Amino acid sequence: MTQTISVTINGKSYQHDVEPRLLLVHYLREVVGLTGAHIACETSLCGACTVEVNGRAIKSCTMFAVQADGAKIVTVEGLAEADGKLHRLQEGFWNEHGLQCGFCTPGMLMVSKQILDRNPAPTEAEIRDGLEGNLCRCTGYQHIVKAVQAAAKAGV
Ligand code: FES
Ligand code: FES
Repeated sequence: MTQTISVTINGKSYQHDVEPRLLLVHYLREVVGLTGAHIACETSLCGACTVEVNGRAIKSCTMFAVQADGAKIVTVEGLAEADGKLHRLQEGFWNEHGLQCGFCTPGMLMVSKQILDRNPAPTEAEIRDGLEGNLCRCTGYQHIVKAVQAAAKAGV
């Protein structure tokens, strides 16, 4: 049994027939071909799969694709401009060495976007609080916090 869903992803419309059990992260990666959202824990602990659904950062392993029917989704692939100009958060992560292996980075970028969308000038404590649901095994978080601070500064 399948169900037809229509979604807008990074400004492009898609319509697919999907099984109701298909998780949103698997839909994005395997059906749409956008592999930026990573899969690690699949139990909503790590945040590697974070994308934006209707303006909110969501762990896409916690949601079925059919629940996203009609939604506007932004993935990490949609952060940069069409001409390739990086988003200020991507610049921040680059300049402040906010990544090492990079596995957590797509999720970190998407949750950082939500932090700045909600509060363009967050304190360090507010940034750390916003990043709480996303895990990184490499960086110790300090450089990620600095990257978000740099992006906030660039947006002022
Ligand atoms: S893979 Fe979704 S939270 Fe870890
Ligand atoms: S940079 Fe390796 S998990 Fe975060």
